Parts: sequence; C-alpha cells; structure tokens
Amino acid sequence: MLRKDMHEDNRQSWNSATDAHNSHKIDQAGFFRNGGSTLYPEEIELLGDLTGKSLVHLQCNSGQDSLSLARLNANVTGVDISDTAIAFAQKLSTDTDIPATFVRSDVYDWFEQVAQRGEQYDIAFSSYGAIVWLSDIGAWAKGVASILKPGGKVIVLDFHPIAMTFDWDWTPKFSYFRAAEGEHFANGVGDYVAMSAKSGVSTTYNEGVKDFINPHPGHEFSWNISEILTALIEAGLNLKVFKEYPYFTGVMLRDEMRELEPKHFYPPERMPSLPMLYGLVAEKTK
Ligand SMILES: C[S@@+](CC[C@H](N)C(=O)[O-])C[C@H]1O[C@@H](n2cnc3c(N)ncnc32)[C@H](O)[C@@H]1O
Repeated sequence: MLRKDMHEDNRQSWNSATDAHNSHKIDQAGFFRNGGSTLYPEEIELLGDLTGKSLVHLQCNSGQDSLSLARLNANVTGVDISDTAIAFAQKLSTDTDIPATFVRSDVYDWFEQVAQRGEQYDIAFSSYGAIVWLSDIGAWAKGVASILKPGGKVIVLDFHPIAMTFDWDWTPKFSYFRAAEGEHFANGVGDYVAMSAKSGVSTTYNEGVKDFINPHPGHEFSWNISEILTALIEAGLNLKVFKEYPYFTGVMLRDEMRELEPKHFYPPERMPSLPMLYGLVAEKTK
C-alpha cells in the first residue's frame, strides 16, 4: 500500500541527511570538470551503450551519478523527492556545464505526470539504496512500465536485501520477509558517508558536519528479491538479466569490510560469502 505520509517524513529526513553527506565531499564540481565519474563498472555493464538514449535516473539524490550518466551521452532526467538533493544537483549541473534535467518529485507522482503527458523513456535506472524507500513495490513497477518505450529497459543495481538483514557489526537483526510493514526509525537517514569514510574508504574525505543526528523519522521497506522480481513480471516486464555480487562498491556500509579489489568491499573473513549487491535488467516488449 502506498504510504505518502511516510514518504513525506522521508523527504524531510533526506533533506537533512543530504546536507550532512555533501559536507563530507570535497569540490564535486572540480571532480567532474577534471573528467571524474561516480559510476562503477557493474552498473556501466548493465546499462550498455547510452549514446542518444533518454534515461530517467530515479531517486537520483544530488545528481553525481546522473551527471556521470550524462557524460556517457545519455539525455538524463533525474528525479528525487528531496528538495536539498535536487537543488544541489541543479547547481552541480550548472557549475560543471554537464546538461541534465532535475525534477523534485515523489517518483510515484512523477510516473503519473509523465504518463499523462504521454512521454516515454528508453531507460529507467535506479541504484544504491533506492528500492528500500518505496512503500509499494507493485505500484512502482507498474509506474516504471508506464513510462518506458516499447523495447525500453529498467535497470536496477542495489544493495541486496540479504546483506541488509545484518546490523553494522554483522549481528543478524532484520527479518528478510518484512518489507510491507516497513522498518521505522526515529532518527531517519544517518550519516553513512561519515561512517563509511571513517572506516578508511575515502581519501578525499572532508570533516564537514560532525556527529549528525537526523531530527526527522524515516521509513524503509526492504523488499526481498522475489517481491521485486514478481512486481516487475506482474507489470508486464521481461527479466533479461539478474546478477548477484559478493561485495559492495564504493561504500563500507558494515564494520570490518575488506577491500579485496579497489573500492570493492567484501564481508569480514569470519562471515560466509554473501550476496551484497544485485543487478537486474527487465525489458518492456510492447
Ligand atoms: C540512497 S539515495 C540514492 C542514491 C542515488 N542512487 C545516487 O545516485 O546518488 C536514496 C534517494 O531516494 C530518494 N527518495 C526516497 N523516497 C523517494 C520517493 N518516494 N520519491 C523520490 N525519491 C525518493 C531520497 O531523497 C534519496 O535521495
């Protein structure tokens, strides 16, 4: 069931957290002006050639990945519920001269507006911590299908719900079969950029906001793999690729992670091998 009331809490929570996250990142415009990209080979492989493609980056946050996608010659529209994130993304686009359109909206509202206007996209892309904020996975999949052209694809690369059943110290904590009820946190979105960087991930970490505590609650919905795949299939999309990866890229979202390849973080040796990310491609055939 769609919970717009909870999305509104999440909007405020993301507004506060985004300021804290961005305070730790140094000179992002300079990073892009020097040819930087925030994408990883995993999503680039799933996305394929983007030249001339219309691409919506769903839940784009501050637009770093959106601008990196635009750099690969896609015509990018980024959508996010957070006012702070979209304002940052628009400014970064201007400051870097990388063209992209950014829209502040709940994705569910955006799907309706786009479908009413009769617009359709080649690609819908969603990644790294996006799916967990969707209170109704079935309505999301139908919304995605409605804005894709025939032959268009939805591409997801996200944290695996199995990895998310563990607490930061790897204690099993959250049920795998819990999504519809949601998990409700009094202090919403945390400063995972600081937590990850303090574990030694980033060489360009700026101290920025210290000891951030989010004043707004947050609500997460950790849809499991069968719920995500079923939603896409029921929306009429054909699953083309499904992959699982034994590492996180870029972030050390748990304690004691091991960087076995550059910027690829594996669970500690005492843990069995686990799926940490998953990737999928599903196509609209008609
Ligand atoms: C972890 S971030 C995703 C990061 C993103 N993949 C990137 O490229 O930086 C999750 C984002 O989802 C957004 N969000 C949460 N609920 C949303 C909703 N109902 N509609 C649109 N955006 C939403 C948040 O504002 C936040 O920016």
